[in-house]
Amino acid sequence: MSADSPDPAAVPRAACVVVAAGRGERLAAGRPKALVDLDGLPLLVRALEGVRRGGLGDVVVVAPEPFLDEVLALCGPQVSVVAGGSTRQQSVLAGLGALRPDVEVVLVHDAARCLTPSSVFVAVLDALAAGHRAVVPGVPVTDTLRRRSGGMVDRDTLVAVQTPQGFVRQVLEAAHRAGAERLGAGATDDAGLVEALGVPVHLVAGHEESFKVTGALDLVLAEGVLVRRRVVAATP
Ligand code: CTP
Ligand code: MG
Repeated sequence: MSADSPDPAAVPRAACVVVAAGRGERLAAGRPKALVDLDGLPLLVRALEGVRRGGLGDVVVVAPEPFLDEVLALCGPQVSVVAGGSTRQQSVLAGLGALRPDVEVVLVHDAARCLTPSSVFVAVLDALAAGHRAVVPGVPVTDTLRRRSGGMVDRDTLVAVQTPQGFVRQVLEAAHRAGAERLGAGATDDAGLVEALGVPVHLVAGHEESFKVTGALDLVLAEGVLVRRRVVAATP
């Protein structure tokens, strides 16, 4: 929590669901994306490091069912590991089902955003502690956008949404229940489900290093970020 955060006793009990059950079809690395190596460590392990440094000790990892043992061994005994589903929404739901009963707020984070700085977790937690019920990190859109049907989009009105997204647990659970009925299992992101219930979504600053590893070029970028971090750390 930052220096001007509320009294820690007033901070709601938080947990993080890390969704890592995707197949990584666009990366096409021959194994699930969360288990792909990035400079000596799997993406999932790097993502968990950011979660831990963000102050979240209560963590549920949602893993691909055939790789549960491998993920358990990677995560260690402090982390709960459950099997995911065939869509991200199903995987989030599986993670919510594994939360301890006393958890009040939950962050949902993509393992594929393996380099998210701890400051983003802290910003989301701070906004929840300040009373927001749904919190999303976003970054400006840099590309010029155009509708397929013709016509420009004013990019100043847009943000690219990242994770971790934070919610009051009951709100997210209700949104998933409603979303499953309304949209089947293929809904958009968690904030979209919550917003459909009429709950306002609060935006905080995301981070350029919190990009999602999707294709092969993103791994090159991630390696570059690690090099830059080492250089910065070694610079007096
Ligand atoms: N995810 C998940 N369960 C799924 C699908 C996705 O837990 N059934 C997770 C991924 O592991 C990832 C995050 O959701 O951390 C974002 O999804 P995405 O980047 O689309 O990852 P994949 O679905 O693995 O990749 P692809 O779409 O290229 O197959
Ligand atoms: Mg996917």
